[in-house]
Amino acid sequence: MSGRLSSKTALVTGSSRGIGRAVALAFARQGAALIGVHYGNDADAAQATIRDVEALGSKAVAIKADLSRGKEATDSIWAQFKAAAIAVTGDPRLDILVNNAGVAPAVPLSQTSESVFDEVLTINLKAPFFLIQAVGDHIRDGGRIINVSTGFTRVAAPTHPAYAASKGALETLTLALAPEFGPRGITVNTVMPGVTETDMNAAWIAIPEARAGAEAMSVFSRVGQPADVADVITFLASNDARWTTGQVIDATGGARL
Ligand SMILES: NC(=O)c1ccc[n+]([C@@H]2O[C@H](COP(=O)([O-])OP(=O)(O)OC[C@H]3O[C@@H](n4cnc5c(N)ncnc54)[C@H](OP(=O)(O)O)[C@@H]3O)[C@@H](O)[C@H]2O)c1
Repeated sequence: MSGRLSSKTALVTGSSRGIGRAVALAFARQGAALIGVHYGNDADAAQATIRDVEALGSKAVAIKADLSRGKEATDSIWAQFKAAAIAVTGDPRLDILVNNAGVAPAVPLSQTSESVFDEVLTINLKAPFFLIQAVGDHIRDGGRIINVSTGFTRVAAPTHPAYAASKGALETLTLALAPEFGPRGITVNTVMPGVTETDMNAAWIAIPEARAGAEAMSVFSRVGQPADVADVITFLASNDARWTTGQVIDATGGARL
């Protein structure tokens, strides 16, 4: 299949729903050969993504792992992807890793229990760290590692301190790893979405005043859609972004400029 990602293999965490699903579909439209559709619980949503990816002509495989289990989960993800890649392409290697899965509980400092803190940090930071470690030696030269952060690293978010801290650390990790992968032509970048219409904030966005406030944050006066973010991730995944690494790329729709 032709396209900017023709013959590439990709693994997208949290691609059963939301931004990750839009990334999987965008990669399929660009001709990716195989897409690992990782999810935690929602097998039906993962299967729906797989059906839609395959309708676009790419192969897809469901990869189940609860990221709150940390390294055990990320080792399992790599083992599942590797087996699928060998079956589909005859080669275990990976071209593009997108660390997208995340959780964002709205819990202020005083109400953040140790278990909530540990869960947020494990899913949003520890899992991407150890997934990069697991796949690092198996990414082809010229490959891509893309992490998904949040605009809450740029503006104060007292409603979500553990979440903001986890994503700030993910951005720092991106910077720290870019030199290590550079000699192999592999870029490491972060994409920073703003308010995006997904299940993550569906209840909040359904409140008219909240939606109006979210729309007013962007210079484009609307809430972001998953495809708005997925297209930026697709650019970073493509050869067009070969000269960009170690960066945080804003995909907030010019929020709070
Ligand atoms: N939506 C926004 O406004 C917004 C803004 C800034 C940044 N972001 C970031 O963008 C990324 C995607 O967010 P989204 O809005 O698309 O989220 P979403 O619609 O809530 O989807 C979350 C995805 O992550 C997976 N996931 C969550 N917890 C998991 C766990 N413990 N183990 C395995 N998988 C797990 C879910 O799998 P299941 O389907 O199996 O549950 C799902 O595929 C996140 O990193 C988020 O922080 C989102």
